[in-house]
Amino acid sequence: MKILFLNGPNLNLLGTREPGVYGQTTLAQIEALVRDRAAKLGVTVEFTQSNHEGELVTLIQQARGKYDVIVLNSGAYTHTSVAIRDAIAATGVPTIEIHLSNIHAREEFRQHSFMAAVCVGQICGFGPNSYLLGLEAAVSLNGK
Ligand code: DQA
Repeated sequence: MKILFLNGPNLNLLGTREPGVYGQTTLAQIEALVRDRAAKLGVTVEFTQSNHEGELVTLIQQARGKYDVIVLNSGAYTHTSVAIRDAIAATGVPTIEIHLSNIHAREEFRQHSFMAAVCVGQICGFGPNSYLLGLEAAVSLNGK
């Protein structure tokens, strides 16, 4: 089973970015946690980050036929991007939406996700553990 972890804008700054909201764990450390758990679960993961909306669209398009599941933290594009939502719907690769923070308990503009309706489900509010829960959720979809 192959799982693509896709990270959107500013997630490359985790560790120093608003630590009160996002914690002090870097994206590289999260990736290491995910890779460690994936090895134990016997699944293959690819882990990427981009600050560019179009690049995220392209990566989602290219995931078709290559990955079984996408685990997506689309960052601020969650709340703005019809293009990323359409890419998920168009490619049909089962996608799990994840966030470090609980977007529903934050500013009103973060409480709407363009991704939610085209994703299998959403995990948010567990900090770096949202990534591990996203991995577990992806594995649970195997063969479905
Ligand atoms: C985020 C939540 C978004 O609202 C924000 O723009 C991010 C990070 C999260 O993981 O909590 O960049 O996706």
